[in-house]
Amino acid sequence: MGIKEELSKIAEEMRGELQQACDLQSLEQLKVRVLGKKGSLTALLRGMGSVPPEERPKIGQIINEHREALTAMLESKRDELARREKEARLKAEAIDITEPRDLPGVGGVHPNSRVLNEVLDCFTGMGFEVVEGPEVELDHYNFELLNLPKNHPARDAQDTFYVDDNMVMRTHTSPVQARVMLSRKPPIRVVCPGRVFRADEIDATHSPVFHQIEGLVIDENVSMADLKGTLDAFAKKLYGADIETRFRPSFFPFTEPSAEVDLTCFNCRGKGCRMCKGTGFIEVLGCGMVNPKVLSMCGIDPEKYSGFAFGIGLERITMLRYGITDMRLMYEGDLRFLKQFR
Ligand code: DAH
Repeated sequence: MGIKEELSKIAEEMRGELQQACDLQSLEQLKVRVLGKKGSLTALLRGMGSVPPEERPKIGQIINEHREALTAMLESKRDELARREKEARLKAEAIDITEPRDLPGVGGVHPNSRVLNEVLDCFTGMGFEVVEGPEVELDHYNFELLNLPKNHPARDAQDTFYVDDNMVMRTHTSPVQARVMLSRKPPIRVVCPGRVFRADEIDATHSPVFHQIEGLVIDENVSMADLKGTLDAFAKKLYGADIETRFRPSFFPFTEPSAEVDLTCFNCRGKGCRMCKGTGFIEVLGCGMVNPKVLSMCGIDPEKYSGFAFGIGLERITMLRYGITDMRLMYEGDLRFLKQFR
């Protein structure tokens, strides 16, 4: 075989192998086999000795041209492989920044729920049991059994949502008292938290839906002193030992006597501030000795038993507790507000 044929055979084989080379390492091996010191093309150059002297320059030139062409082919293949290897690596290392992170955002407890939990802890610590009642309530429990007969003027004070003639959205948690008295025997010690409804316009201090915590204690020889002691312990436990209670005479059809209770303002601790309008006290609940008429309507003998009841407005104490000045913030679900309570 002449040198020229051999050259084209080498070039042909190399093209074929180049096409199959799939990584830089096999490309390097190919280069050594053809162009290296012991490579096939180098061997051809070495074989020049057997070529007649007058033909040598010509043959030498042809070999060198092949050498250059093959080197160029190798180089461009190397570039291509290097580019592909880099692409593959980048693809493997890529991070999808649009992928949702695996941890869901951690929520917080709503301020109203926080304060409710504290209040319930406080009362369960004093031996009270937590009881709930229905939000859609019979007129009978919401009003009648609480000494608020039809046409009683005090009914007007509670702008009631009527479902029908006999059914209402409960206007307070007091009907749970009636349900408990009718279904249990004294001694009774319960707190009844829940949602209540009134046809009020929404503003900074009113909402058609809000929450109350009802309390009821019935036993032999329960007195007003027990009521005062219980509420005083509650106030101190929740807001601190320096908090005092102030009872003011009031009226509720279901209690006799009745009182409204003020607590030392938790903002100024009694000094007088904007929150308590300079008085040092803030009204937080209504209470009283359960009206004997209510006791007997609910199947409890007023000759043998007596009891006290109270109703706390949850939103009110939550707002005072955290210095929230607009009740709407508590219902709007604005995360900028809620995130402050995490
Ligand atoms: N039910 C009353 C209201 O919604 C609050 C209340 C006052 C509850 C006195 C009581 C109580 O149990 O004794 O305004």
